[in-house]
Amino acid sequence: MNLSGKKILIAISGGIAAYKIHFLIRDFIKKGAEVQAIMTPDAENFVTKLSISTLSKKPVYSDFYSDNGTWNSHVEMALWADVMIIAPCTAGTLSKMVHGMCDNLVIATYMSAKCPVFIAPAMDLDMYAHPSTKRNLELAESFGHIIIPAENGELASGLVGQGRMSEPETIAKTIEDFFNSTTKKTLEGKTVLITAGPTYEAIDPVRFIGNHSSGKMGFSLAEEASERGAKVILISGPTSQKLQNKNIELHKVTSAKEMLHKVFEFYDMADIGIASAAVADYAPKEVATEKIKKNDDNLTIELVKNPDILKTMGDKKTHQFLVGFALETQNEEENAKGKLEKKNLDMIVLNSLRDEGAGFKNDTNKIKIFTQTEKKEFELKSKDDVAKDILDFVESQLLK
Ligand code: C5P
Repeated sequence: MNLSGKKILIAISGGIAAYKIHFLIRDFIKKGAEVQAIMTPDAENFVTKLSISTLSKKPVYSDFYSDNGTWNSHVEMALWADVMIIAPCTAGTLSKMVHGMCDNLVIATYMSAKCPVFIAPAMDLDMYAHPSTKRNLELAESFGHIIIPAENGELASGLVGQGRMSEPETIAKTIEDFFNSTTKKTLEGKTVLITAGPTYEAIDPVRFIGNHSSGKMGFSLAEEASERGAKVILISGPTSQKLQNKNIELHKVTSAKEMLHKVFEFYDMADIGIASAAVADYAPKEVATEKIKKNDDNLTIELVKNPDILKTMGDKKTHQFLVGFALETQNEEENAKGKLEKKNLDMIVLNSLRDEGAGFKNDTNKIKIFTQTEKKEFELKSKDDVAKDILDFVESQLLK
């Protein structure tokens, strides 16, 4: 799941399972979340602030004050968070939480938190089975917290039984399921067809004409539309992007002609079409069957125009809401509006190569959106957040 914009507070207490938190943090960061980690003083015997802060990309706190005398505000961190995870949660930390024994930064932060709290206990099997732990877990549940139960298996003591902290993947999935359940399914029942990435036009068996498109914008749009409950069909040229959401139907193509054919396999069923692919405008007229030898000083390749996929979608539009992209270097607004008209679009997203951070290879983008009657300008943002803005705008138009 794409976790961009999500704020996750992780509190680490002192147990050997703390080493697994590195993997959890790395996973959250990779998926775009912001992670703030805090530790109990004892947790520092198991993991270092350096390793945790390197992965979380933020300073890690274990005390109310830093050495330079600044206050590490437990209130600010608690109110910042969308979720708080206590992992590993030792028997001692669990007991302090449910009894309000506020003697360290983790407990003070926990007691200031208004967000959902997830607890991943970890302890030896007899401690886990002890009536006091059982009662404390019940108390935590009665506060509305979510327990991610310890698993069965080998424990650090050498004993075998229930007490191992849940694996990072299980904790991550619990958190993702939670976020997913809170995302409004505003595109439920809609089918969204998206083109993404570059196209490669073969010259011979080893060479092609292509471009620098990373495919990131289209993949972000696909993830976001899928999270909003849409059925997503993503038709992508060659890219190294990976999908998080398993429900997205990905069709890989290479050339513009293949992309065109694939698009029209699904066009009738689409409610929304978004063309974010950077389609090559021309392709070699003939594709050499053997590798072209470098015999001459000059080589001429005759190029012929590729089909304009989006214009064809516009010409054949029946009920679809059509969104195009324009990447311009001059007369940006005029050109974008011209394409809106010429390709029979409902909306066009303009990114100007003159804006730093916008365009092809960056992880960020700065856009303006135009319809026949409206214009809206956005700040420079991550492509994941730009995808949210684009779909918010599409939704607002569909409601009209
Ligand atoms: O005309 P131009 O290439 O600037 O238009 C850009 C928009 O048209 C993008 O949305 C792009 O995905 C789409 N396009 C297309 N097929 C082409 C060229 C562009 O779908 N052959």
